[in-house]
Order: sequence, then C-alpha cells, then structure tokens
Amino acid sequence: MLDLSPLPLVTERLQLRLHRPDDDVWLHDIYPQAEVARFLLKEPWTREEAGQHLDTRLAKTDLDGPTTALALVIEHEGSPIGDISLWMTNAERRVAEIGWVLDPRFGGKGFAREAVRAVADMGFDHYRLHRIAAQMDARNTASAKLAATVGMQQEAHLRQDWWNKGEWTDTLIFGALSSDPRSPLAPLA
Ligand SMILES: CC(C)(COP(=O)(O)OP(=O)(O)OC[C@H]1O[C@@H](n2cnc3c(N)ncnc32)[C@H](O)[C@@H]1OP(=O)(O)O)[C@@H](O)C(=O)NCCC(=O)NCCS
Repeated sequence: MLDLSPLPLVTERLQLRLHRPDDDVWLHDIYPQAEVARFLLKEPWTREEAGQHLDTRLAKTDLDGPTTALALVIEHEGSPIGDISLWMTNAERRVAEIGWVLDPRFGGKGFAREAVRAVADMGFDHYRLHRIAAQMDARNTASAKLAATVGMQQEAHLRQDWWNKGEWTDTLIFGALSSDPRSPLAPLA
C-alpha cells in the first residue's frame, strides 16, 4: 500500500519524527530547565510528569486521527533537540495551532525556525489547513521572533488575559493563512 504519511519530515539539518516510548529520557533532560519552563504554562517537569506527557504525546500521531494532533520530535544528527506540536482547534474548518520548544543548548542556530517552517508547510500542503495560529507570553521575545521569521503575522496583543505562575500575563497571537505568500526563509544578515 502507498505510504501517504508525510513523516518523518526531513530538512537540511533536521529530522522530525513521532514520539517513541523511550523519549521520556530527553524530555526530562529539556523540560526541567528554568529557561525552557519560564514562559510555558507548566512548572519545570519532574521525571513522573515527563512520563505522563510522553504518554499523551504518543497518541498524537495524525492531525486527522482520533486525537486531531501531531506531536513531533526535532532531531539533529540523530539526537532529540526539541519538539513541535500541531493540533486542530477546528477540525471541520481546518484551523490549527502550533507550539514549539527547543533545547537552549541548541538555540540561536536557526534550528527552531527550520523545523517550524517544515511543520507549517506540511500543515498547509499535506493537511490542507486554512490557518495556523501560535500564542505566546508577550515577554517571550525569542518565540515571537521565531513566529515572525517563519512568516506568521502578529494579529493581537491580549492584555493580562492569562493567569500564569502567580501573575497576570499578556499574550501575543500570530497567524498564517494558506493564502499568505510563503517566501523562502530569509538568509542571515
Ligand atoms: C522559542 C524558541 C524555540 C526559539 O529558539 P531560537 O533558537 O531562538 O530560534 P531559531 O531557531 O529561529 O534561531 C534564531 C537565532 O539563530 C540564529 N542563527 C544562527 N544560525 C542560523 C541559521 N543557519 N539559520 C537561521 N538562524 C540562525 C539567528 O540569527 C537567530 O539569532 P538571534 O535570535 O540572536 O537573532 C526557544 O527560545 C525556546 O524553546 N524557548 C523555550 C520554550 C518556549 O518558550 N517555547 C515557546 C512557547 S510559546
């Protein structure tokens, strides 16, 4: 039978694959880092929480499957360096949201933008999405910059809409439409 799965996604320097049962090891290596957890909605993960999140992620294998979600591992030279999730917020209308995390030890090298662009392209080309949105804490400048460099447009700045870790926080919303022009990733200045 013809394999219609777009996975794994292969880019110039990366491979993006589904999660495996042994992924709790690197998840527990990355998510407890304060730098990673700072703007996420959860506190740094314990080992037990890493296992629980992995169980949820193992089921997220197809945007058009029962979970209407995809949880992907970003690998560089065969090792996990982060993850990207894509999930339907309105499956009937083909509207989805994307989220990303990169191990800070691999930050600043353009890996996140290479991975996000590949997943967004898959969302539009393979899954025929109409829209992909991304939301982030407004103080998360690295994440906002990433959204902008992959071609998403900032559409909103919500003021103190989210109570997170003991304080009100602002949220930025970015969006990309299937009809938006998709220019190649800009070369570094
Ligand atoms: C958000 C996050 C993924 C961004 O990671 P990142 O490494 O800054 O993003 P990129 O892969 O796009 O890298 C861009 C940087 O790499 C540099 N770079 C180096 N080589 C590059 C290359 N070959 N191509 C592109 N950029 C390159 C760019 O100049 C840029 O540096 P700058 O920010 O100093 O200008 C990361 O900060 C993170 O995981 N944070 C913690 C979790 C989190 O908050 N997630 C988001 C929740 S909404």
